[in-house]
Amino acid sequence: MERPWPASLFTAGRRSVTKEAQALGARHTNRGPYIREREVDSKVIDSFNGLITSSLTKLVWLNANTDAGKRFAGATVKATADFIADEEMVAASNAWFRFSGTNHRDGLTLASVGLSPLKTRFAMMLPPKLIGDPHKAWFEMTRDVHVATAPLFGLIAVPSLADRAALIEAGRLWQRMHVQATVFGLAVQPLNQLMEMVDRDQALKHPSEAEKALNSLSAIGSDVFAFAFRMGHSRFITNPSPRRGIDEVLGS
Ligand SMILES: Cc1cc2nc3c(=O)[nH]c(=O)nc-3n(C[C@H](O)[C@H](O)[C@H](O)COP(=O)(O)O)c2cc1C
Repeated sequence: MERPWPASLFTAGRRSVTKEAQALGARHTNRGPYIREREVDSKVIDSFNGLITSSLTKLVWLNANTDAGKRFAGATVKATADFIADEEMVAASNAWFRFSGTNHRDGLTLASVGLSPLKTRFAMMLPPKLIGDPHKAWFEMTRDVHVATAPLFGLIAVPSLADRAALIEAGRLWQRMHVQATVFGLAVQPLNQLMEMVDRDQALKHPSEAEKALNSLSAIGSDVFAFAFRMGHSRFITNPSPRRGIDEVLGS
């Protein structure tokens, strides 16, 4: 087909691949142990603050050794206990466990729950029936690994949970932060049990202990927390989660 422009108008450009673009393939949620005594540098934290591009989102940081950090950790463990005591929540969450079979390329796989490389190998050789209760394991991992080994927690606040634009901005901010963390060689994991219990309590019209705990963490005016995570240096390299090929996600 003839082009409507002369070929001489175009010259070959230089291919430039940013650090962030390179980090995309390596980015993954890290559910393993972090090095508690290795703090995240305050300059690094500042650069994450610089990723905020919308007035609808705020970032709050909690050092794990502070009172507020300890309260976040304790309340997250309690929210996990409340989550796994709720049969409907457990059934909904079970639907996302991918501990056997290889047909899914989403959800939570055994390889990405944050076990050490040796334990992962061992667990993957076990027949599914012998793996045990994944929710009990999740509770124990939350208490003994996720909050116990993280030096730093973070929360993203928005004006309202009903503000869809703000929730999308919170998600976009998290995506940028996760890629940036990968560039810095930092491990991150969302820790949203408190948010999940706030939603659950609202659905059941219960007074929410989780909401009270979140509100006590930091003065954020009338804003509310929409997303929480931990950050640190990983103790070991954990496995990535499965990815779908581009052909599987592109619409025709
Ligand atoms: C809105 C949202 C909330 C999430 N909350 C949690 C969480 O509380 N705990 C967790 O381990 N992962 C959480 N995740 C991470 C996803 O489970 C993760 O992105 C998924 O397993 C894909 O893995 P990847 O990040 O390695 O690509 C959350 C992700 C999103 C988008």
